[in-house]
Amino acid sequence: MIRINEHYRKLQASYLFSDIAKRVAAFQSDNPDTEVIKLGIGDVTRALPPACIDAFHKAVAEMADDATFRGYGPEQGYPFLREAIAEHDFRKRGADIAPEDIFISDGAKCDTGNIQEIFATDIRIAIPDPVYPVYLDTNVMAGRTGEFTDGRYAGLIYLDSTRENGFVPDLPSDPVDLIYLCFPNNPTGATISRSELQQWVDYARDHRSLILFDAAYEIFIQDNTLPRSIYEVNGAKEVAIEFRSFSKTAGFTGTRCAYTVVPLECTAYTAGGDPVSVRDLWHRRHATKFNGVSYPVQRAAAAVYSAAGQAQVMERVTYYLANAEHIRSEMEALEYACVGGENSPYIWIDSRTDSWSFFDMLLNAAGVVCTPGAGFGRCGQGYIRISAFNNAENVREAMARIRNALS
Ligand code: MLT
Repeated sequence: MIRINEHYRKLQASYLFSDIAKRVAAFQSDNPDTEVIKLGIGDVTRALPPACIDAFHKAVAEMADDATFRGYGPEQGYPFLREAIAEHDFRKRGADIAPEDIFISDGAKCDTGNIQEIFATDIRIAIPDPVYPVYLDTNVMAGRTGEFTDGRYAGLIYLDSTRENGFVPDLPSDPVDLIYLCFPNNPTGATISRSELQQWVDYARDHRSLILFDAAYEIFIQDNTLPRSIYEVNGAKEVAIEFRSFSKTAGFTGTRCAYTVVPLECTAYTAGGDPVSVRDLWHRRHATKFNGVSYPVQRAAAAVYSAAGQAQVMERVTYYLANAEHIRSEMEALEYACVGGENSPYIWIDSRTDSWSFFDMLLNAAGVVCTPGAGFGRCGQGYIRISAFNNAENVREAMARIRNALS
């Protein structure tokens, strides 16, 4: 008899964004004349930068000629892309990351979900609340939790992010082995200062734990005093893995390209306490289960680092941040307390009521889709997240409709 992985039965019925998509589809079929505006899932709407498209076309032409055709590429990614990343995203900012530390992949969602499998099943895991659901669900699937009761899985250490702590969790009071952090944060849009991040790195060093740092939204940081990478903080290379993505920076949500940084120095331990290179483990996993991102996509991603690519990417970032500023100022004018939207494309809004009720109200009364904060965890109850990823006209229209619905 074929049997299932019983841990899947502990999961919530469906993935948050699938659940929302189903509700929106049901609303749309009952209200075919309403033009729904989606400010829910953080999916970009602006086309790929022209520099990326040019590189894409050239690479496709290479694939059409036997003389320049490429078959399987290096599993870790082509050196031209890893070298550009190491130079532009890290060394230029004083973080000594080598191309060999970089693993190109098809998404930060996959990498943040897959990374847990190289660690023991009985480790103590600290996960923020609210949180991007992938970190949580993949640990549930792997059997690292007990049952889900009262909005939480048994066996995990939750790091509350609340108004009181400025949405930056406090260090855990009990020792933990694996720590998930995301800044600028999804969903709250909060940022972490260099000194706060240093405290986490020091904690990880003191406890021989490891930080999984999701920096998928770093490009939205406008305040230059804030760290964009955990490796800008002293001592991080031994105790941190960082995840980055071209999705939100250069519009690759549909094209797929991301990368994970696992420095040579990054260390985990055997049951007997012997140090092991995490980079070697991740390399072994990557080479076994992944065959690389396609050559044209990697060429398109590398074009992000050209002078034209950089200017075009920044133009898109500025565009989405202007949306964020508009959303935040409109909600504040309606006297809703907001976080984020300044160094982040997400605005986290205190709805002063149940998250899902507010979600339903915005959908029914304004035809606008947001994300209910409760979907990100117990501490998200009472909040909603509005995403700035849409066309400026749609965002203005959505906010005008919200203003009418709420006033
Ligand atoms: C979000 O809306 O939280 C993100 O778009 C989800 C993702 O990047 O997978």
